[in-house]
Amino acid sequence: MSRYWSKLVHALTPYIPGEQPKINNLIKLNTNENPYGPSPKVIAALQKEATDSLRLYPDPNSDGLKQAIALYHGLNANQVFVGNGSDEVLAHVFNALLKHDKPILFPDITYSFYPVYCGLYEIAFEKVPLNDAFEIKVEDYFKANGGIIFPNPNAPTGRLVALGDIERLLNQNTKSVVVIDEAYVDFGGESAVKLVNRYPQLLVTHTLSKGRSLAGLRVGYAVGHPDLIDALHRVKDSFNSYPLDRFAQAGATAAIEDQAYFEECCQRVIKTRGVVVESLQRLGFEVLPSGANFIFARHPSHDAERLSALLREQKIIIRHFKKPARIDQFLRITIGTDAECQALISALENII
Ligand SMILES: Cc1ncc(COP(=O)(O)O)c(C=O)c1O
Repeated sequence: MSRYWSKLVHALTPYIPGEQPKINNLIKLNTNENPYGPSPKVIAALQKEATDSLRLYPDPNSDGLKQAIALYHGLNANQVFVGNGSDEVLAHVFNALLKHDKPILFPDITYSFYPVYCGLYEIAFEKVPLNDAFEIKVEDYFKANGGIIFPNPNAPTGRLVALGDIERLLNQNTKSVVVIDEAYVDFGGESAVKLVNRYPQLLVTHTLSKGRSLAGLRVGYAVGHPDLIDALHRVKDSFNSYPLDRFAQAGATAAIEDQAYFEECCQRVIKTRGVVVESLQRLGFEVLPSGANFIFARHPSHDAERLSALLREQKIIIRHFKKPARIDQFLRITIGTDAECQALISALENII
């Protein structure tokens, strides 16, 4: 601890991202990346961008990208905010829309960045327990709050909340913002984006890191009522006017426009997920229903930490969370290519 640090820095507990090991020939199923590369049109757009024009600042408003996102969702560009990964978008959301007098609500088991943002922006929060089946029950959020946020599908459980339930929540909760983090919605969930024109308190966030295979480019966005979007722009322009560089804007626009490629990759992941679920169940695992590009599973007689360590010896990396205790026997496994998943299943067959 340094005596030069601010009081805030002393109090921070930063987020720890999933490991990006510098080891060759790994089967990397630990951070929910897409196993397929981005669209060839994205690569072409990035190559086209590598010119003298890099001496100039990028468009601070990312107008072309916002237009493409608006068109894709059938919205207006003033309903779209873009940022450097949805993590940055979420950071601005916490600061601009979730910082009020009352505590905000999010699930006890969820994306572990949420409490970190609360620490950074000094926002009080209350964790709402998932039920025994690890589901989010919207009735549990029918109480006074400074805002509500959860991923749908939830992470790391993969469990989905039906759109009808989200609408019930919105009808109950009109006085504070409801944020639905749809990082994984492309793998089978029903998006709440179609509700934004009817509910001015609804904000939906998306990422290009998962379904669009662009975790390395760092692009995410939020859609909602223009007033909510305006708040995000006010914070962004008090922080960094150019969060998306020229490559990010060009590549993300090409990715949004290549609908066919995106859908094909997602369908492949969904198909492989079905095979992985069946194979794990055959080995005795309990697998939670997943609407995401990962699954959350536990074995009744094999310790999760040990399984994870044994897989690692075979260069297969998955994610094991030691905390909270309720999930310490679960493994979170990203859906890879068919070959990667087959290697995982064979390794588990040998161990079990
Ligand atoms: C639920 C959830 N939201 C948001 C993110 C952030 O994604 P990114 O910053 O890559 O857009 C993640 C990343 O894993 C996530 O799991």
